[in-house]
Amino acid sequence: MSHSARPMILIAAVLLIISSASAFNITLMLEKYPEFGEFNSLLSKTGIAAEINRRRTVTVLALSNGRLGEINSKTEDVQKRILSNHVVLDYYDTNKLNKLKNGKAVLTTLYQASGTADDQQGFLNVFHNAEGHIIFGSAQRGSQMNSQLESAVTAQPYNISILSISSPIIANGIDGNWSPMPPMAAPSPSDTAASPADDAAESPEVTVTNADAPTSDDATSPNPAEAPGAGSPTSPDDAADADADAPNSAAAVSGVSLALTLASALALLVAASL
Ligand SMILES: *[C@@H]1O[C@H](CO)[C@@H](O)[C@H](O)[C@H]1NC(C)=O
Ligand SMILES: *[C@@H]1O[C@H](CO)[C@@H](O)[C@H](O)[C@H]1NC(C)=O
Repeated sequence: MSHSARPMILIAAVLLIISSASAFNITLMLEKYPEFGEFNSLLSKTGIAAEINRRRTVTVLALSNGRLGEINSKTEDVQKRILSNHVVLDYYDTNKLNKLKNGKAVLTTLYQASGTADDQQGFLNVFHNAEGHIIFGSAQRGSQMNSQLESAVTAQPYNISILSISSPIIANGIDGNWSPMPPMAAPSPSDTAASPADDAAESPEVTVTNADAPTSDDATSPNPAEAPGAGSPTSPDDAADADADAPNSAAAVSGVSLALTLASALALLVAASL
């Protein structure tokens, strides 16, 4: 190897290490879609954009311009809480949502990781309704379940997926408008970051308990295969189990790719020193 090649190889190795530290920039990703401009600037204003960028495996449930609704009139602190409830700590694209085991799942959000969520406020329920649509809502009792998945906006598989939903997800009490309930034994933010699956598995609210939940309409659903619980016995724990598998495999994949990155950087360094 020629002597003059060494500095270039060293620089390449260092760049390789640095580039693996930040996988994406949500602000830049959404800038390509001006129809999400209001949502994008709110993510930056509240600091949620920076928190998203620190994650490696997230799904952002985004609202297009004009759909922020009541979020607009909240204080910045409440806006931050609500937006962090639109960031799921796992990778979900439309394909994965279409194939949900039993047609439903419980999702852990960034709000849960903040350690300030009360009761089930930090979790979302997602399910397939009788019309075959995918519906999101807060897992907190008394919350609306009416945010419908519209389309995939963009993604970097399997690090970040941005999906468009029809209306804001507002957890009951997230704006402080209820008498405070004693918080559950909330995991510390670092615990949650390490194992979002554990939180989901601990969630007692796996079952979808609302009036819109499909029941007898299943047989007439245009998508019987996707209808929740179609024909098969379901246990409330199944959704949590399904959810628990995903982050582990995602973590394994990113662990492998990190190991590969480090290994190739080391190989380059060794080559450079020969
Ligand atoms: C996803 O994140 C991992 C871990 O940071 C990184 O090594 C990988 O390059 C990222 N993938 C993409 C497509 O950005
Ligand atoms: C992401 O992009 C925005 C807009 O260009 C920039 O202000 C911000 O510093 C970037 N964040 C990171 C973590 O690179």
